[in-house]
Amino acid sequence: ANPSILILAGDGIGPEVMAEVKKIIGWFGTKRGIAFDVTEDLVGGCAYDAHGTPLTDATMAKAQEVDAVLLGAVGGPKYDVLDFSVKPERGLLRLRKEMDLFSNLRPAQCFDALADFSSLKKDVVAGLDIVIVRELTSGVYFGEPRGIFTEGNERVGINTQRYTESEIARVARSAFELARRRNNKVCSMEKANVMESGILWRQVVQEVHDKEYPDVELSHMYADAGAMQLCRWPKQFDVIVTDNLFGDLLSDMAAMLTGSLGMLPSASLGQPMANGRPKALYEPVHGSAPDIAGQGKANPIACVLSFAMALRYSFDLGDEAARVEKAVEKVLADGVRTADLMGPEGGKPVTTSQMGDAIIAALDAS
Ligand code: NAI
Ligand code: MG
Repeated sequence: ANPSILILAGDGIGPEVMAEVKKIIGWFGTKRGIAFDVTEDLVGGCAYDAHGTPLTDATMAKAQEVDAVLLGAVGGPKYDVLDFSVKPERGLLRLRKEMDLFSNLRPAQCFDALADFSSLKKDVVAGLDIVIVRELTSGVYFGEPRGIFTEGNERVGINTQRYTESEIARVARSAFELARRRNNKVCSMEKANVMESGILWRQVVQEVHDKEYPDVELSHMYADAGAMQLCRWPKQFDVIVTDNLFGDLLSDMAAMLTGSLGMLPSASLGQPMANGRPKALYEPVHGSAPDIAGQGKANPIACVLSFAMALRYSFDLGDEAARVEKAVEKVLADGVRTADLMGPEGGKPVTTSQMGDAIIAALDAS
């Protein structure tokens, strides 16, 4: 059977950027003889409009069956008034939770043509290509006890950083597996100097390494020092693995090393399925961008690069993933720009669809 993909384009610019990915999926079928079984369904506000829920049980079941889910974005001002239980982002949270997507891959990749966009000096970021692996389903955002309590005559807000050994081990494995596909190098970040969970994190990552991945080069760094190093000389890293809280901060920071939100892909991976590949959901980092929705202004590259990650991690088509990434690199080098990629000097931006067509043309030439 062909590899299967469930497309959940969602709201706002989600369907606009996903339309360009669908063109590329079509291109793989006709030009490379690589066919995918694609089904499409609703998530977020559009699912609420149709079914009164941001994700139906039937869609959830489909997501559990396919080889990969591609998601656009969810949400919009129209849905802000809804009850929390049916808000668009609940659809996404349900997918992450029920698919048990504990490993969040956030690449920070700087295309040379966009190096001027970084907030850092060009030579610090040009050619940068690192991945932050963030634990996504445990840690201080979920640990109990949590809440606002009364203690004596004042209130106290409590969250608990809690990690089990198996939670640490599985995200460590995910980072080591990734490293083996890349440059065989992992840096693990925690605060073992001041946190018990950090001490355990460091021990377990080291143990998993020594037992199962001795071939991978492993280093440890305190997360605050890691933040400094990421700013100072990010190219010293390749794969960084860290917990939910530190990963949230470090991945947002690393993202800005490289420029526009419209460029950033992500993958969220879970346990291996029967075919050995992890459960997986791929999505751009950006949201539904209601301020530009429906105007053909959205940059589809984040969504296109998310599909490239799917080719690599869910379908073992690393060469084809590189082909897509090179095509993106070529159109950027040729000066093709959506509005978000234009500097203050301006110029004539292309539309979402023109950007997609330029990527297809570059693929044709590859
Ligand atoms: P946003 O990421 O949608 O937009 C932030 C800014 O970046 C806007 O000015 C937007 O125009 C621009 N932008 C984002 N993606 C772009 C692209 N591909 N091309 C060009 N410009 C782009 O974040 P915001 O405005 O905070 O949230 C808008 C809605 O999206 C909200 O309803 C929010 O809940 C939702 N959201 C959904 C996410 C998801 O589906 N994973 C993630 C973040 C926000
Ligand atoms: Mg964040």
